Amino acid sequence: MENNKINRSVIVNFLLHLHPHAVNKQALKFSRTFGLGGINALLFVILAFTGILMRFSYVPTPDGAYNSIVSFQNNSLLGTLIRNIHHWSAMLMVVTSFLHLLRVFYSQSIFYRRKKTWYFGLILFVIVLVFNFTGYLLPWDQLSYWAVTIMTNIVEYLPFIGEGFANMIRGGETVNENTLLNFYTFHTALLPLLIVAFMMLHFWLIRKARGVTVANNNEQEMVHVYPELVSREIIAALSLTAFITLFAIFFDAPLLEKANPMVSPNPSKAPWYFMGIQELLIHVHPFIATVVVPLALIIFFVYIPKIKIDTEKVGTWFYSSKGKSIIVLSVVFSAFITLLLIFIFEYWLHLNQFEIPLFISTGIIPLFMFLLPFFGFLFYLKTSKKADKVELVISITTTIFTSYIVMSFVGIWFRGEGMHLIF
Ligand code: HEM
Ligand code: HEM
Repeated sequence: MENNKINRSVIVNFLLHLHPHAVNKQALKFSRTFGLGGINALLFVILAFTGILMRFSYVPTPDGAYNSIVSFQNNSLLGTLIRNIHHWSAMLMVVTSFLHLLRVFYSQSIFYRRKKTWYFGLILFVIVLVFNFTGYLLPWDQLSYWAVTIMTNIVEYLPFIGEGFANMIRGGETVNENTLLNFYTFHTALLPLLIVAFMMLHFWLIRKARGVTVANNNEQEMVHVYPELVSREIIAALSLTAFITLFAIFFDAPLLEKANPMVSPNPSKAPWYFMGIQELLIHVHPFIATVVVPLALIIFFVYIPKIKIDTEKVGTWFYSSKGKSIIVLSVVFSAFITLLLIFIFEYWLHLNQFEIPLFISTGIIPLFMFLLPFFGFLFYLKTSKKADKVELVISITTTIFTSYIVMSFVGIWFRGEGMHLIF
């Protein structure tokens, strides 16, 4: 009994250090945050815990890696379960980070005092992806070896610096033992330090902004963090841990045969979260896919929180009454145009066969085939729907996300041998 009390107060006191004494009652509603920021933080704790356990037996060499994982699964206590939990938590963290990004974006929680929180969030998102990508190679099986080969080949497409940069990542011209050691060092030493530092900055900025946004700033009823928030957090954390453990009991993390650099599987695919980029590269010139699109996205995402919006709108889901319908229209438009272009390029229009420079045939032409209807759509929103600047930004962002998701789906499920479409 006494012990229970001590345990409880340790956990509660720790959680209280992360929070102010009191928070706005509205901020406690589940539909405000869906707990996604906290879920990300907990997933990292689970990943660090299981990752450290695996590190005790993991051997970062081409001969040792695969065997050490097989042996960890077969001979260590709960080895398979620990590896499964690490694998599925990592996959889930990509999804929950992205959902958290959508949550803060669509609830107008990135303006004014939260500009930097958004920027640090974007950096966290990149770190989560790099964490996943570096971890992907560590099993050193056919799946991981060739996925990393595909991705580093994509890096080579970057003009001027591409080859040098790819060789630096790989520690050579192909994926080899140096790549494994590079990835291992990043994965288990550098990235954990980086993510902790950026998470601390992220949390500090949220505290500085006096907590998460609330829909109506006039309602200022405050409640004590303990027990109101802390009890909810403990229940959510226990439920999530139970869910992941159960999932990991029933579904094993994939492990194919040991990597063989001489035999590439057909098709060879990038990790699922980068499949959108691989799909884009099937259709457009590498310069567009690796420079123009990413650069445009970075500029756009840095620009968004600088827009001046009505302070009353901060924290309002979907910004306005029109917001929701604009989002639905943008999803439908973007999914339609992306699928249409994929079919056109696959079956009817082989742009690389024209007698004109590739940069025009596979670069400028497909770019305009997307941009023309896209600008037409924005013009329609502006004139017929009387969309304002923020509503247009919401539409552009929704279009980008939908298009990436559709390309990823096509790449993951509908590309077979030779990366041809299959049904
Ligand atoms: C301190 C933190 C961490 C340590 C020490 C660590 C350590 C490890 C080790 C030793 C492996 C090789 C075992 C294996 O592949 O089964 C691994 C794999 C992996 N890690 Fe981590 N990890 C950490 C955090 C993370 C995080 C935060 C993520 C993602 C956000 C992540 C994603 C992965 C992935 C996707 C794999 C491949 C899993 C598989 O399919 O086998 N790790 N990690
Ligand atoms: C490791 C990844 C991340 C962790 C652990 C994390 C953690 C958190 C937590 C705990 C909160 C407060 C509660 C909540 O909103 O759920 C929060 C808020 C916030 N996060 Fe994150 N976050 C991460 C990634 C991101 C990403 C990818 C973005 C966007 C690019 C982002 C942007 C924000 C913003 C703008 C807020 C303030 C929201 C508001 O005031 O309502 N975060 N984050």
